[in-house]
Amino acid sequence: MSSTATPERKIPREKTLDSTVALLREAYEFIPRRARRYGSDVFETRLMLQPAICMTGAEAARVFYDDDRMTRLKAMPPTVLTLLQDKGSVALLDGAAHYHRKAMFLQLLGPGSFDRLVDLTAAEFATAATQWERRDAVVVLEAAQEVLCRAVCTWTGVPLEESEVHQRTRELAAMFHGAGSIGPRQWRGQALRARHERWVRQIIEDARAGRRTLPDGSPADVIARHRDSDGQPLDAAAAAVELINILRPTVAVAIYVTFAALALHEHPHAAERVRAGGDGELEQFAQEVRRFYPFFPLVGGRVVKPFTWNGVEFPEGRRVLLDLYGTNRDPRHWEGPDEFRPERFQDWPGDPYTLIPQGGGDHRTNHRCPGEWSTIALTKVAVAFFGSSIEYDVPEQDLRVDLSRMPAIPRSGFVIANVRAAGS
Ligand code: HEM
Repeated sequence: MSSTATPERKIPREKTLDSTVALLREAYEFIPRRARRYGSDVFETRLMLQPAICMTGAEAARVFYDDDRMTRLKAMPPTVLTLLQDKGSVALLDGAAHYHRKAMFLQLLGPGSFDRLVDLTAAEFATAATQWERRDAVVVLEAAQEVLCRAVCTWTGVPLEESEVHQRTRELAAMFHGAGSIGPRQWRGQALRARHERWVRQIIEDARAGRRTLPDGSPADVIARHRDSDGQPLDAAAAAVELINILRPTVAVAIYVTFAALALHEHPHAAERVRAGGDGELEQFAQEVRRFYPFFPLVGGRVVKPFTWNGVEFPEGRRVLLDLYGTNRDPRHWEGPDEFRPERFQDWPGDPYTLIPQGGGDHRTNHRCPGEWSTIALTKVAVAFFGSSIEYDVPEQDLRVDLSRMPAIPRSGFVIANVRAAGS
């Protein structure tokens, strides 16, 4: 793999002066399209006027997630960074400081730690359904965002008044809907993020000053009390960023909920299989939703330790983009990659580099998403709910998924009508 003995290879290089606009326009297809065109898993381009290396596939993911080679510092454009992770977050730490902070996330989000979040989400869906029965139509994306916002606030110990549910949901959703764009959607995200950060920071400050009690051991309480590897507590702004790092992406699971509902609609055989099956079939369906549908197109890093891979030199400081979407559909690892087939996961041994919608490698030492287990569990709740607990009509609507928009979602948000309890 990595070797200094391999002779230097000529890496395909884009002829354009800069590909930033093409990347924003082509989004999910930017890297896969060019990798196919050049017949190479790796090629060089220029982004924001600097050279950048793009790569795709499991071998590339293995290289990208090799410990200590990449940092996330200065890897993302500031507009994306401030909406998704923001300054002070675990994503921008490296080495021992990252390991220590990440351990806190894994304690909160590791398998078995979020059972209550799953129960709360299932209960919120059940309550919401009784209201949906009285409505002409429901946009699943929007409704799921609210369900998840209620559940995650209760679970994390963040106090949420009934009167502010709508506003807080909008703020959290605007962050991930704005991250992949430039212009009004991005500005709106920034404005709503600033308001949300003020709200969460105040909660942390009130708890620390004894003006408010957070439920003992809740994620909000753990983050407010957390001490970094230097023994110091997080400043209130960083603590708010990390709490939002649980709230925002949990609400973003609404995108997978929407795709799960779309998949149940568009793949009746798969829907039948999951209805007739048990937990295994639910899990396979959720995994296939994560593999098949777009979420983040790519992840960016910068080389901290120079290395050579397959004859290609990765100099210090070089920006590197790893293709997440294309790797999940790589025909070398997935048979019939463009078909929705949950049964492919029946005997899946698990592989940290072929299925990487939430990053790859090791959760503790790499930047791989600590929310992967809860994402799968919450998607399973949605599959069971939309697949078995309720019945509904799917009126005519625009279900196209535009791969040039980040995040890609069905244009209509997936509208359902005439909602009723199953079997009623
Ligand atoms: C909704 C589906 C989700 C997707 C598609 C997703 C995707 C990702 C990706 C691609 C990364 C970056 C990996 C890298 O830099 O190499 C990441 C990191 C992260 N995610 Fe997620 N995520 C999701 C849900 C969640 C959830 C539910 C949580 C928390 C409850 C979460 C918390 C985080 C955190 C804290 C990081 C930074 C980890 C680190 O730098 O070590 N994510 N996620």
